[in-house]
Amino acid sequence: MKIAMIGTGYVGLVSGACFADLGNTVWCVDKDKEKIDMLNNNIVPIYEPGLNELVKKNFLFNRLKFTSDLNIAVKNSDIIFICVGTPLSKKNKSADLQYVFKAATEISKSINKFKIIVTKSTVPVGTGDKIEKIILGRKKKKLFEVLSNPEFLREGEAIRDFRFPDRVVIGSNNKKVTKKLETLYEPLIKKGAIFFSTNRKGAEMIKYASNAFLATKISYINEIGNLCEKTGVNVEDVSIGMGLDKRIGGRFLRVGPAYGGSCFPKDTKAITVTGDLYRTNLSIIKSVIKSNEKRKRILTERIKVILSNKVKGKKIAILGVTFKPNTDDMRQSSSLLMIPYLQKKGANIKYYDPSGEKNNFSKLKNVTFCKNINEACKNVDLIVIHTEWDEFKSIDFKRLSRGKKFKIYDMRNLYSSEKMKKLGISYYSIGR
Ligand code: UGA
Repeated sequence: MKIAMIGTGYVGLVSGACFADLGNTVWCVDKDKEKIDMLNNNIVPIYEPGLNELVKKNFLFNRLKFTSDLNIAVKNSDIIFICVGTPLSKKNKSADLQYVFKAATEISKSINKFKIIVTKSTVPVGTGDKIEKIILGRKKKKLFEVLSNPEFLREGEAIRDFRFPDRVVIGSNNKKVTKKLETLYEPLIKKGAIFFSTNRKGAEMIKYASNAFLATKISYINEIGNLCEKTGVNVEDVSIGMGLDKRIGGRFLRVGPAYGGSCFPKDTKAITVTGDLYRTNLSIIKSVIKSNEKRKRILTERIKVILSNKVKGKKIAILGVTFKPNTDDMRQSSSLLMIPYLQKKGANIKYYDPSGEKNNFSKLKNVTFCKNINEACKNVDLIVIHTEWDEFKSIDFKRLSRGKKFKIYDMRNLYSSEKMKKLGISYYSIGR
């Protein structure tokens, strides 16, 4: 099939490259010419395992094309995916839809024959209706159909998630067009993905309800973890014991720092705004947002307690600063609160992240980026494991210490408390 992806950010680029890999011809469009030049030179502007190879391969086969000319891409495609960003608007904390509406206006100018227009961007319920209205301003109804196809990719796992999704959700009232999308996704459905179609608003709601539910699961186990810590229970056992109940399921029950990233924090806020708009108080999601904000402070405060309230002059190594592993994304990472707080209190901080140095900390005095674990942990009083990158999972702490005593605060429970005890290391973890 001939496809256009409008917006070559995370969702557009990953999905575009994956659709091309399934044999489709895909035009990836972005108004950022610099980005398009990079992609045309086989430089992928985002960090996602496996994406470089996928882009290179499909570009070489001429199935994946990059352009800043939306008109060419739309004219040459049958299915057009809107994949532009929907950041939180500063005004009312809901999704800012200006880029979606701009894309719809631009698309409407280029429609030359029947087009299927699909929203992949995360958009509040009812946005599809607004997109349709915008396009109707220029083109007759029989020339297009607007669908919703929410995206459930996770950063760092996006290619695998695209290839092996649990489900593909399509929102449309038009059976013929829904069938066309089912055909597009057929290779994934054949491998076990469930194809679920509902109406357009239903699909829009499924995306927000899913993200808010996953955020709730995380906050729930984090709070249970707080109680486990006080009662001498191991939260890991509780997660396993709970997850064995198929009604609950074991995934997204890992304790850790506050959830971050570009999706959960943004989408939980946006859905509560929609709730308020329709006079429906989404009180559970509102309390999840509060609980997550509080969590950032709780974990940072605990560092103070571990250091016996003497942070000034202490040398601290932070391992991992991104919001999760296998991404260079710093958005809403709890390290953004933790590091400036400790620095302000007079700590000397060395940090290492496999995805490289971060501008976020470049102006902070006494905060230095190190090139590896050894450099970061040399002569420190405390090591904080903040992000669960694979290379932090089997550190030889005995060798690292070279006789110097230090404490470890493992915010991802990567190590066994018993083993650490045997090594004579003061080890603190979460919820156990
Ligand atoms: C999330 C959803 O998982 C995707 O399905 C969705 O498509 C995406 O948002 C989106 O809306 O675009 P993502 O933000 O990439 O994906 O990352 P997750 O793996 O979901 O992690 C989010 C946060 O939750 C991270 O800070 C992670 O450390 C935390 N987390 C996750 C936990 O603390 N515990 C867990 O058990 C799982």
